[in-house]
Amino acid sequence: MSALLVSNLRVEINGSQILKGVNFDVRANSVTALLGRNGVGKSSTLKAILGIYPHSGKVQLGERDITREQTYRIVRSGIGYIPEDREIFASLTVKENLSLAELDEEPNYELAYSLFPELKERANQRAGTLSGGQQQMVAIARALLNKSEILLVDEPTKGLAPRLVTEVADALARIASNATMLIVEQNLALVRRIAKDIVVMDQGTVVFSGGIENLNDEEFVHRHLGVSVRGH
Ligand SMILES: Nc1ncnc2c1ncn2[C@@H]1O[C@H](COP(=O)(O)OP(=O)(O)OP(=O)(O)O)[C@@H](O)[C@H]1O
Ligand SMILES: [Mg+2]
Repeated sequence: MSALLVSNLRVEINGSQILKGVNFDVRANSVTALLGRNGVGKSSTLKAILGIYPHSGKVQLGERDITREQTYRIVRSGIGYIPEDREIFASLTVKENLSLAELDEEPNYELAYSLFPELKERANQRAGTLSGGQQQMVAIARALLNKSEILLVDEPTKGLAPRLVTEVADALARIASNATMLIVEQNLALVRRIAKDIVVMDQGTVVFSGGIENLNDEEFVHRHLGVSVRGH
């Protein structure tokens, strides 16, 4: 069954067509990776799903058509979002950042703190003084406080030191074992570890959808992503 179904999704901003009819689905209880070179429309796809970018087409969350719903309703109805570049409040403490993200009456701090015990220890530290990896943990923890049907995760390991990439990857792998996720990620080792399906975009459309095993094909990876398998 599909947790999320995206059909003919189009986004136009200031006269330029950013998404030109994007089609894919995300299986429930499984991780789908949204891949593609820089600037092909991955982040815009997530933002259109969330209703942040004006769009046409159709977005279905389970059985429900959310295409024309307002963002606050989409978020409340169960789409968790971990944005590119983290977007946390630097001048607020870790706990204040988390409190602001609470949507449920009983936010799941147990889950967030069990994955990231460091955040509990640093609850009163200003988020701007955390390392990049710790800031990413705040961004992920924020989304985990609320029950969600699907998590949209945008480049969670971008810009992190290798040791922190491993730490964030481990946490994502644990989350993935019990969640539905659509993840944009350049680190193919992480993608191979957690994803079952891949969707590849190029210039505002989907050019390939299929199983993770396609990433074992060096020619495929080079053609679609322009990187060498060995490098990742
Ligand atoms: N708000 C916006 N206003 C104008 N152009 C935008 C806006 N958002 C995205 N774009 C343009 O749309 C295209 C797709 O951008 P998007 O951020 O979705 O790509 P991406 O695949 O996430 O790239 P990256 O790998 O660099 O994160 C780019 O050319 C970008 O400049
Ligand atoms: Mg992006």
